[in-house]
This record gives sequence, structure tokens and C-alpha cells, in this order.
Amino acid sequence: MKDPQDSKSQRDATRAITRGRTSFDHHGVVNTPVYHASTILHPDVDAFEERHDPSADRRKVIYGLLGTPTTFDLEEVIADLEGGHDAVLVPSGLAAISVALLSFLRPGDHLLVADTVYPPTRSFCDQHLARLDITVDYYDPLVGGEIVSLITARTRVIFLESPGSFTFEVQDIPAITEVAREHGVTTVLDNTWATPLFFKSFSHGVDVSVHAATKYLSGHSDVVMGAIICAEHAWDNVRRTHRHLGQCVGPDDAYVTLRSIRNLSTRLNAHHKQGLALAQWLAQREEVAQVLHPGLPGHPGHALWQRDFLGASGLFSIVLQRKSREAVLAMVNGMELFRIGASWGGFESLMIPVHPEQYRSATTWDTSRPTLRIHAGLEDLDDLIADLEAGFARLNGKS
Ligand SMILES: Cc1ncc(COP(=O)(O)O)c(C=O)c1O
Repeated sequence: MKDPQDSKSQRDATRAITRGRTSFDHHGVVNTPVYHASTILHPDVDAFEERHDPSADRRKVIYGLLGTPTTFDLEEVIADLEGGHDAVLVPSGLAAISVALLSFLRPGDHLLVADTVYPPTRSFCDQHLARLDITVDYYDPLVGGEIVSLITARTRVIFLESPGSFTFEVQDIPAITEVAREHGVTTVLDNTWATPLFFKSFSHGVDVSVHAATKYLSGHSDVVMGAIICAEHAWDNVRRTHRHLGQCVGPDDAYVTLRSIRNLSTRLNAHHKQGLALAQWLAQREEVAQVLHPGLPGHPGHALWQRDFLGASGLFSIVLQRKSREAVLAMVNGMELFRIGASWGGFESLMIPVHPEQYRSATTWDTSRPTLRIHAGLEDLDDLIADLEAGFARLNGKS
């Protein structure tokens, strides 16, 4: 039988099923089993020494910390889907960000960070990297190739996140990575929103892609995990730092995440459809001043999104017309299906008020109108719309 992994031309939905199945020796069991492991036993000293030879294939079971068949398969499918050289797993999305940055930065370096990053990324840079004598400057995410004017002789890394957290600005990633390459600067992208399916980091010049696997990769709101995927030239640094910092993930979490990735394409296409349908519906409402969804033609980043992305996930925001806090709370607190929760990417819909102005320094945000972040889950669209209609009635003081 032909090994399905022979085919380089498979599309993503197929690859999500055929990749990361290196271990076909589990009695025919379809899913790679959970390996709970720390100590690994060897039949004799020769075998022990051979297995610990650092020049040998990295995907060898040596010690639980360094991986098991479950984590190796998960790393392989994640790296393959995004078109990267290889990947490592870490205990959270934030750990993916911190380990990736620590892999390249040294005391005295300068780091450029998009102003619209996930707020804990900013805290890590301001509080932790600053202690290591690393200077951090934030840049307007819409800067594009003009980022060249912010690069100094000490700039070692540019950190990107596109679209931006809360406000969904789309970055011109190829323009930024081109400038970075010309100046020998490493680019690290938080690609959590798009996942490896909807944005192919490495064909847009990115060196390192980080993910909160907590979101769509695991996809059921019950796992906290991160992944770092690298271009080949960035791999050694990340792999070494990952080891030095002693990072690994729990075996059961690796198992369920690997299982969830098998249907990532189906789920993500459903989130894409649902998110766009809700965004279009919301754009027609008089209570809504602006829908911050890159998939809508009126969005300022729509052309870049169309050029570079292969889809939209279910996370976007809306800016309401001026309303009192009480009216907004009446709307949000009374939602039945849109639940109040921060971590997105699971199967259910979410809605929270957000305050982007608290987390930016290079750009400003108009605070006169409330902003709500919405996650489009996988419920029935008509039920979600009925929930929103009732919510707007409460916003308007009519219920
Ligand atoms: C864009 C983005 N990156 C990273 C993270 C961090 O992920 P985790 O919660 O797994 O640390 C989040 C979490 O909300 C996020 O939204």
C-alpha cells in the first residue's frame, strides 16, 4: 500500500489526517496512543548510549521531557500544516511567545513589537525582557515596509500578530519580513487567529510562528498548550532554548490536541462561515458603528487579508454606537448563547467587552464607544442571531 505521507500535493484537510501518523505500529489503533512517560528503559548500555547520541534523529524516545510518540506526531502535523521545518510544544500560548523571543534575544538587543499584540505578550516584553536589558519599542501594526525606519543596529527581532488582538488590524507581513530579512532581523509571528491552515507563515517570509494551541488547535476549551513552528534556519536556536528551559506538555493534552487537529479543517471552515455570517448581519444593525472583521469588504485590512490569508477564524469585534455601561451590561449579561469568557477557539460562542486603549502605546483607540469581542462558535446561526436580537433589545432598553 502506498504510504499516504508520500504525497506532497495533498490539500490541508487531507494532510491534517495523514500527517503525524508516523507510528503505524500500535496494533492498528487509529489514534496515536497516550504515552505517560518519564524514565525510558533500555536493554543494555550500548542501546542506552546509542539512543542518547545527540547527533541521532531527534524524534527518539529518550526521556519523557524530550517527547513521546504522541508529542512527536503532534509536532509533525502542526509543522507540516503551516509549511514549517519543525515544531516544539510548550505548556501555553504565552510560553510559545516567551520561549520564541528568548531563543533570539540577548542583553543589549532591541525588539520591535506590534502595538496590538495579545496584552500578556506586552507584559512579558515590558517586565521580563526589560530586566534582561532588552529594549522594546512598539510599532503601528499598519506600518508595513516603513518599519525600516524603526530598525536600529541593535534590532534583533520583530514580533508580529495579525490580525491584532481585540481590534483586528491586518499587518502587511510580506513587506515587514522582506525588510527584516534585508537587515538580518528575525521575525516572530503570533499566528493563533489564522491557525496553520489560514495563514502560511513560511511562504510569507516569517522565521518563527507561535500558536496558542489552547484555541482552535485543541478546539474544545479544555486544553492549555502552545506550539512554536520554525523555518529551518531558525530551528536550532528554538530547539536549544526549548530544551534549556525544560518545556514540555502533558501527555493527555497532547493526545486530545492531536485528535482535534484531525478535524481542524472542518471546524475552521465552519467558524469562518459562521463568523462572516454574523459579521455581515451585525454590520446591518443601527446599534453597530463598526464591525472589525477582516473578511468584510469595508474593513481597512480586507485587501491584505484577501491577498495573504486563506480564511478567517471566528474571532472579531464590533464597536457599538455610544451607549451607557448599564445598557451594554444589560446586553452582555443577558446573552444566552454568547457566553462571557476570554479564551476563544472552542465550539461555543463568546462575547466580552474589551478595552483596547489600555494596551497600546504607539497608536490610540477611541474610547467614546464600547467595543465587544465576539467569538462565533458552532451553534445554529439562526439561534445565535435570535440571541443577538434579544441582546440588542436589552441594549436599547426595550426588554
Ligand atoms: C492571540 C493570542 N496569542 C496567545 C495567547 C496565549 O495563549 P494561552 O492562553 O494558551 O497562553 C492568546 C490567548 O488568549 C491569544 O489570544
